[in-house]
Amino acid sequence: LAGRSPQKPLAGRRVLVTSGPTHEPIDPVRYLANRSSGRQGHAIAAAAAEAGAEVTLISGPVAIADPKGVTIVRVETAREMLAAVEAALPADLAVFAAAVGDWRPAQDSTSKIKKDGAAVPPLSLVENPDILATIAKRSEGRPKLVVGFAAETDSVIAHARAKIARKGCDLLVANDVSAEGGVMGGTANTIHLLDRDGGLETWPTLDKDEVGRRLVERFAARLAP
Ligand code: CTP
Ligand code: CA
Repeated sequence: LAGRSPQKPLAGRRVLVTSGPTHEPIDPVRYLANRSSGRQGHAIAAAAAEAGAEVTLISGPVAIADPKGVTIVRVETAREMLAAVEAALPADLAVFAAAVGDWRPAQDSTSKIKKDGAAVPPLSLVENPDILATIAKRSEGRPKLVVGFAAETDSVIAHARAKIARKGCDLLVANDVSAEGGVMGGTANTIHLLDRDGGLETWPTLDKDEVGRRLVERFAARLAP
């Protein structure tokens, strides 16, 4: 393709990245969320743009700067994120770095839930759609390379192996988010990169920007003819 070079290995490629947490509303003033900062997903989007790709970054609510040279679609909930991902297809590469809320409140009250009355309000949850699995298992229009993430606090590799099979993705970036690691919300990351054929690499602890650049190199190599 025109313009592809060692410096721009993703020139002419369409790349989609999800990043950040989701917010799942309880009522107009409250929501369920998680500790994701969006740093790793945003770093991947920036590195892909730097590598020459046309990048769409679909981001949950984050407090970090927009990466340069990417199209940003801002969403709040998992269901909005799924719709935005589907609207952004087709893509050559899809990277699902977002920490998608697994559950949402069964009811999203249109008015603020009040304290008055004796009982604590019940909070019942329903499961959100699995965005990664939905896209990875598509029969038509599946991106050539689908990359998932796994946030684990124990038995990281075993859980990651099960996850890559269950989700149907080609590569999985696994990280240990147990408290002492401080990965969620932090600026450094220690990852394991797994593929579907049993391949496993463990990388040294690196700045999330550097992890993003190195991952993009790997993705470009996998996409190369
Ligand atoms: N993911 C997704 N949609 C969801 C949940 C997760 O797209 N509703 C994606 C994440 O972006 C990530 C991968 O699936 O790429 C794994 O997310 P993770 O939370 O580690 O796995 P789960 O399947 O949700 O399992 P659990 O949280 O129980 O470990
Ligand atoms: Ca999850």
